[in-house]
Parts: sequence; C-alpha cells; structure tokens
Amino acid sequence: MKHEYTFDYFKKSADYVRNIIGEEPDAALILGSCLGGFSERIQSPVEIDYKDIPNFLTSTVQSHAGKLIYGTVAGKKVICMSGRFHYYEGYDFEQLTAPIRLFKLLGAKYTIITNAAGGVNTSYKPGDIMIISDHLKLTGASPLCGKNIEEFGPRFFDVTDMYTASLRKIAFGCAENSGLTVHEGVYMYFTGPQFETPAEIRAARILGADAVGMSTVTEALTAAHCSMPLLGISVITNMAAGVTSEKISHDEVGVVAETVSGRFGDCIEKIISAV
Ligand code: HPA
Repeated sequence: MKHEYTFDYFKKSADYVRNIIGEEPDAALILGSCLGGFSERIQSPVEIDYKDIPNFLTSTVQSHAGKLIYGTVAGKKVICMSGRFHYYEGYDFEQLTAPIRLFKLLGAKYTIITNAAGGVNTSYKPGDIMIISDHLKLTGASPLCGKNIEEFGPRFFDVTDMYTASLRKIAFGCAENSGLTVHEGVYMYFTGPQFETPAEIRAARILGADAVGMSTVTEALTAAHCSMPLLGISVITNMAAGVTSEKISHDEVGVVAETVSGRFGDCIEKIISAV
C-alpha cells in the first residue's frame, strides 16, 4: 500500500527545523545542480543535514550537497536548500512536495527556485539566464495527486500566475545589473535522467518551450497549491539536444554553471535585498 501523506507528516519536519532556527525566514531558496556555490554567501550559517530532519528526503545527486542552511543574506533571513530532490532519483511525485511544504510551515514569505537548464530557444546562449514566466509539464503525475491536504490548499487550484509577476520584474532588473544576459521564458519539464532526444526538443520548441530541465516544476506546483509567491530562475548551461552538434554532458553543465556563479550569486543577493 502506498504511503499516505498527511499534514502531520510534513509538520513533523517543520517542527524539527523550527526548533533549531527559532524564527521565521523571510525568503526560501532552492539551489539547482552545480549552483550550490551561493550557499557560501549565507552569513552566520546554521546547517542541518537532510538526513537528520524527520520525514524529509535525502539528496542522491553528487553535485547537490544535501543540507538545509539558515542564515542571513543582505540582512534578510534566508532558509536555503543546498541540494534538491528530483523524480529521477526514485522519489514519487507526492514526496517532492516536502521542501516547499517545509518552507510554508516555517513561515517563509516567498521562494526562489534555481536550476540548470538546456536552451531550446535558439537565440539563447550557454551562460544566459532565463526568468521562468510559465511552464509546460506533459509527462508524469502531479505532485498534488493523492489525498488533498486542505491545510495547504484546495483540491483544485489555479496556476495562472504561479510565477509571481512582481518577483519576476525585480529579478529581471537584478540580473541585468549583475552583468548577466537575461531572458524571460517558458521552462519545459522532462523527468530525466536521460537528456532529451533531438526530436523531443524540436517538439518542445513547437509547443512554446524556451528551456528544458528535470526539476523546478514539481516544486512550483506545490508552491501554487499552498499560495507561496514564487520566482524560478534557470541558468542556461548548454543548448538542448540537437540544437548544436555537441553532445550534452553533466560535466559541461557544471563548467558553464561555474563561469556564471559569481554574477549569478550577485543577482540572487540583489533580489533578496530588493524584495
Ligand atoms: N536537459 C535537461 N536538463 C538539463 C539540461 C538539458 O539540456 N541541461 C541542464 N539540465
């Protein structure tokens, strides 16, 4: 029998973390693949290993650290996940609601999600940034399938403005001011772990995708369900399959993420300061 997730199941994780941090964060942050370097900017950090948090998940991807870090950035209280969870690691979609529900229960006022993504829009270049305006998810179940937890939100919920317009506007300006080339566009979710086929990428482009990746959307849907304001930012680390003759590798993703990590960190810091 499949596990049934209840409000108390998620509350147990939050109670544990709240006891350690003792106050409500202003912002919550999820750092994507190879973008964990930002956590070094967190002042007076308190670190909590995912494995010590009751009913939480543990990260299995090597380029993800696997800890929750609480501290300040630009004078604001920030709770940060260094290392995130993906469907391809073997979790079920419902389990992937845990991080955002933790943030919600801790009282975070908004969440910033970052990721590494493949560029589908041919005007994009590796190293560019894309502020997510909307997404496409045509594969896999919703993380909100299963018994609805009314304390978080209603059974049927609207996702028209799930990527909060006011946060997008702030983020766009901060990215420009940090010397990044920035776009706004549509992120398309694929479960992975394989990178997409060239045919899938051609289809994605026809459907309106500007970038593709294997994360973010599960968290974004959970945020929409519990009315958490949300900002999603992709670092374009490579052109998606078939756009160039290059093959895609996780190593390449890491190399490009590293080249923008300084400016990207500046950008995130400016956003946290400005919100
Ligand atoms: N596809 C899916 N996920 C990714 C990619 C990609 O091309 N690059 C970085 N993450």
